[in-house]
Amino acid sequence: MSDMLTIVDHPLIQHKLTILRNKETSIMQFRQVLREISFVLGCEVTKDLALGEIEIETPLEHTTAPYLEGKKLCFVSILRAGNGLLEGVLDLVPSARVGHIGLYRDPEMLEAVQYYFKTPDALGERQVIMVDPMLATANTAITAANLLKEKGARRIKFMSLVAAPEGVRAFSDTHPDIPIVTAALDRELNEYGYIMPGLGDAGDRMYGTK
Ligand code: URA
Repeated sequence: MSDMLTIVDHPLIQHKLTILRNKETSIMQFRQVLREISFVLGCEVTKDLALGEIEIETPLEHTTAPYLEGKKLCFVSILRAGNGLLEGVLDLVPSARVGHIGLYRDPEMLEAVQYYFKTPDALGERQVIMVDPMLATANTAITAANLLKEKGARRIKFMSLVAAPEGVRAFSDTHPDIPIVTAALDRELNEYGYIMPGLGDAGDRMYGTK
């Protein structure tokens, strides 16, 4: 498998992922747990953010201490399921900029069709983190990364929740420079492009649609 893939096997993440996979989990709990899990995944995906130093006074003395440099982080949610991960990462970095890319999967061709694109400017100066829970065929993620690169993004990471081996291979073949952080690498895609065992359609599970 790609050496750009990181699987975060923290017990809390694995426990929460089991709750998300369970079809008996309610919409309310699904959203809540997705938010919690994205907070923990967000820690992994941001672990190499650049730190500078500032001078502060503690109650006891003057000291220098690490501080995040600038407001250079941009999360990009791939609509609509990406919004489920976005909330947790924004809990983690409330000052981050946010972009949205609207892509849906053509149900027959399983190809990504674009219907919306809005991102902050100066993407080339930012660490861009794309968020989408399901890395399945990777058509959507590949298209999203293409669009971000066309807009100037140079440092991109991809945070997902569940990945299929087929999706990881396809994404890393096209974008070998983009690290992927995920909570699980599942067995395979089925004939409809769903991840097995997976958790179903993440957007439907979040929003109660079919
Ligand atoms: N998108 C989903 O929401 N679930 C899958 O299993 C695959 C793609």
